[in-house]
Amino acid sequence: MKALNGIRILDFTHVQSGPTCTQLLAWFGADCIKVERPGVGDATRGQLRDIPEVDSLYFTMLNHNKRSITLNTKNETGKSVLERLVKECDVLVENFAPGALDRMGFGWERIQELNPRMIMASVKGFGPGPYEDCKVYENVAQCTGGSASTTGFRDGPPTVTGAQIGDSGTGLHLALGIVTALYQREKSGRGQRVLAAMQDGVLNLCRVKLRDQQRLERGPLTEYSQHGQGIPFPEATPRAGNDSGGGQPGWILKCKGWETDANAYVYFITQAAVWAPICDVIGKPEWKEDPDYATPPARLDKLTHIFDTIEAWTKTRTKFEVMDICNPLDIPCGPILSMKELAEEPSLRETGTIVEVDHPARGKYLTVGCPIKLSDSPAEVIRSPLLGEHTTEILTDVLGYTEEEVREIQDSGAVGKQVVLD
Ligand code: COA
Repeated sequence: MKALNGIRILDFTHVQSGPTCTQLLAWFGADCIKVERPGVGDATRGQLRDIPEVDSLYFTMLNHNKRSITLNTKNETGKSVLERLVKECDVLVENFAPGALDRMGFGWERIQELNPRMIMASVKGFGPGPYEDCKVYENVAQCTGGSASTTGFRDGPPTVTGAQIGDSGTGLHLALGIVTALYQREKSGRGQRVLAAMQDGVLNLCRVKLRDQQRLERGPLTEYSQHGQGIPFPEATPRAGNDSGGGQPGWILKCKGWETDANAYVYFITQAAVWAPICDVIGKPEWKEDPDYATPPARLDKLTHIFDTIEAWTKTRTKFEVMDICNPLDIPCGPILSMKELAEEPSLRETGTIVEVDHPARGKYLTVGCPIKLSDSPAEVIRSPLLGEHTTEILTDVLGYTEEEVREIQDSGAVGKQVVLD
C-alpha cells in the first residue's frame, strides 16, 4: 500500500514544473498517466540529449513512475478518448501556456460537466493580472518573483540561482494544493481548481526578503554586511552576497585547497550561543571578553573583519576538517558540496535520495529520488516510460476499449505508433 493508491492522475504536464509535481504524486502511489502528443511527446525527451535518439536525462529524471499514452487531443477520436480519461481520473494536472486547454475544448466548465469530482490543477507563470497570458520559464519566474533582485552581490547584476525554485518549486506547491483538494473532496464530494503561479511560488520562497523590504522602512538592515561596511541602503531590499538570511550572521569562507578547487569553501555561521567556542577554535580567546566583540550588537559593524579572521583559520583546514571540528562544538557550518561529491555520497544512496536507475535505451543513470520520506509509504523509483509505451494497456485496462475499438482508434491516427520493447 502506498499513500495515494487508488488516485489516478491525468498528467498533461510537460517540461519541468508540472512533471515535478506529478512525479511526486506517482512516488506517493498515484497511477500517473502521462498524455503526450504522438510522435513528439514532451519536448524535454529531445532536449539536452547526451545520447543520440535516447530520451534525455532532463526527461527521464522528471518522469519516473509514470505511464505514457500518446494521444492527439485535437483529433476527434482523440478527443473522445480524452473524455473517457477525464471520467476515469481523479486529478488533471497541466502546465500548458494560458488558454491551451480551452482551445483544446477541455476548459474547467467542460471538465466539471464530464466529471464533477475532478480536481484540475495548473501551473501558470502568473496569476490573474497584467501578465496572466504570458508564457514563462524558470528564470523568468526567478526574476519576476523577487529572487533575482535579491540574489548575487551588492555591486553585481541580479543573479539567478541554480535551484529551480520557479519550476520544481512551483511543482511542489502544486502537489500540496492537489493533496489538499483531494482531502477536501473526501468531505465535499466535489472537485475544484488548483492554481500555482510561478511568480507566487518564487515570492513565497523569497518571503524573508519581503520581510526585509518592510524593515528597511524603519532603518538599516543591521545584520547585512553592507551595514558594517558603512554603505547606505537603497529603497529596495538589496542583494546580500552570502550573508545569512536570518538573525545569525554567516558567510562563505575559503578552505584549504581553494586555489585549485572551486568548491573548497565552507558556510560558517557565527551563532551567538557558540561565540565562545568559535573564539577558541580560531585562536582569538580574547574576543570572548572584549566588549567590542563579546555581544552580537557589538560585532555587527565588524562582521567583515570577523569573517576575514575566521577565514584565516578555515584556510588551514579542508572543508570536511572544519566540519569535523565545528560540529561537536555545535557551531553551525556546512561544506560547499559539488554535484560530483553529492553523486558519490554513500549516505544519500542509502536513504534513496540519490538512486541509480536502469533504462532500456540509455542504461544506468543517477537520479534524485523522492526527497520526502513517508514511513508507511516508501517511494520506489521506476524508470520513466518510453513515448507511448503504455498506450494499448491504458486504452484497454483503464478505459475498457475492446481490441477492435483499439484498432479503430489506432487507424484514426489518434494515438500514433505503439512502442514495442524487445
Ligand atoms: N495533442 C495535440 N495537441 C497538443 C497535445 C496533444 N497531446 N499536447 C499539447 N498540445 C498542444 C497544445 O494544445 C498547444 O496548442 P495551441 O497553442 O494550439 O493551443 C501546443 O501543443 C503547445 O502548448 P504550449 O503549452 O503553448 O507549449 P510551448 O512549448 O509553446 O510553451 C511553456 C511552453 C512552458 C512556455 C508554456 O507551456 C507555459 O508557459 N506553461 C505554463 C508555465 C510553465 O509551466 N512554465 C514552466 C515550464 S517548466
